[in-house]
Amino acid sequence: MEINWTISLVVLITTFVFFIINRRKKSVKRQPPAPPGWPVFGNLFNLGTMPHRTVAGLAREYGPIVRLKLGSVNTVAILNAKVATEFFKNHDLTFVDRTITETSKSHDYDKSSLALAPYGTYWRVLRKICTVEMIVAKRINESESVRRRCVDDMLNWIEKEATLVKNGNGIHVAKFVFLASFNLLGNLMLSRDLANPDSEMGSEFFKAMSGLMEWGGHPNISDLYPWLKWFDIQGLRKKMDRDVGKALEIATGWVNERVEKRAHKTKERASVRRKDFLDVLLDEPEKMSIKDITVFILEIFMAGSETTSSTIEWALTELLRSPAKMTRVKDELASVIGPNQKLEESSIDNLPYLQAIIKETLRLHAPIPFLVPRKAGEDTNFMGYHIPKDTQMFVNSWAIGRDPECWENPNSFEPERFLGSKVDYKGQHFELIPFGAGRRMCAGVPLADRVLHLVLGSLLHEFDWELESHVKAETLDMDDIIGIVVRKLVPLKAIPKKLTN
Ligand code: HEM
Repeated sequence: MEINWTISLVVLITTFVFFIINRRKKSVKRQPPAPPGWPVFGNLFNLGTMPHRTVAGLAREYGPIVRLKLGSVNTVAILNAKVATEFFKNHDLTFVDRTITETSKSHDYDKSSLALAPYGTYWRVLRKICTVEMIVAKRINESESVRRRCVDDMLNWIEKEATLVKNGNGIHVAKFVFLASFNLLGNLMLSRDLANPDSEMGSEFFKAMSGLMEWGGHPNISDLYPWLKWFDIQGLRKKMDRDVGKALEIATGWVNERVEKRAHKTKERASVRRKDFLDVLLDEPEKMSIKDITVFILEIFMAGSETTSSTIEWALTELLRSPAKMTRVKDELASVIGPNQKLEESSIDNLPYLQAIIKETLRLHAPIPFLVPRKAGEDTNFMGYHIPKDTQMFVNSWAIGRDPECWENPNSFEPERFLGSKVDYKGQHFELIPFGAGRRMCAGVPLADRVLHLVLGSLLHEFDWELESHVKAETLDMDDIIGIVVRKLVPLKAIPKKLTN
């Protein structure tokens, strides 16, 4: 009898304890796994100098959804294609807004920005102008001669520089591509040659914009600990205020000048001047203020210049490491374009190997490896994990491009993998998302696509390229560094030898 009582009591207590534990478990929502962090700093020290790579590496231990505490900011990283597919297909709307950095608030830049605008009327209107009227095949086709001229200028600058650099030394390729991309955007948007050495305003604008990109890409303590923002410990906000102020001042001058010209219906307008991006924006006065237009101009320079130069630099670097692939693409260009001819945009469709090289470069070297970070608009359940409102979301396109579940030999440069494959970067194949995907996908893809092929194809068709005499292909430095975009840590210096095709 005594024993029965004791057994009943033990069973009762055990059941009670299990019940309590279970209840507690249910009320603590399941969060994604996280590496151990430090008090105050969280996982900041896990990031290192190449955060896209170190965060990608966490997948081995913690799986494809990893929680990080960056200072005081809750962050979740998405690290493989399967999870990215779920993210964009079923949760795009929950994560459609951006995290706003401290430097982007300079001069209320964020309030007029398309890339940072909350998902709503302003974003919708601007995005539509951009993708329906501005960066569409028809308008891009109309400006083919502008791109031709800017690319020809670049080829001439390179040829000239090559004659100055001797003794087996090379030229800094990305510098010329950056300048050409900047000049091209200036022409497409404002019909202005900003790379013209005689344009004092152009070079001041270039300097201010270079500052903007530098400060905007710097990790900022004020973003990690928002209560410290008033101290601006690294002085980044101050520098940003100076450079955004200068860039806005110059661009506002250009916009006002155009407004006046349009109002007076000058001869220039009456003639058949090509309608540039600024005309498209000014045609919608009720939708955008002068400030909105000016910020838009700055934004396009930021979005389209270093992304292009970094991609071209990586493509050329990879080709210089793979002579057989270099020969193959040059042969393709020679046979499609023909002797003494320039690469025309209409030929790009007939250059499948060149296209494969651009895809493969963007797979391995996505210039914006965390995309433009999103944030959770509300508490949400994502693949069984609780993600609290305002969590910053890093979709690591660098890791996804190397996901071994999707890519054979994921770390080697093999453009051949894309020949005969339908996979592209237009937002439908989540294993290749250098331009992002979903509603906030890059608005400039049709233009970027055209420019990347034209620039790389022209560089390869017009010149033979060699590494500097003291550099070996096998030991070429392949490290990268993250700023507003990821670029080669040690810039590629290569020797161009002009071809008389
Ligand atoms: C190699 C070239 C480029 C790359 C790799 C690139 C990549 C990206 C990425 C990753 C995003 C964020 C997407 C997301 O959050 O899902 C983005 C956004 C954006 N890009 Fe690009 N981009 C490039 C060139 C351009 C160009 C040439 C333009 C314009 C002329 C442009 C305009 C924009 C704009 C306006 C946004 C913001 C879209 C929004 O928030 O709705 N980009 N880009």
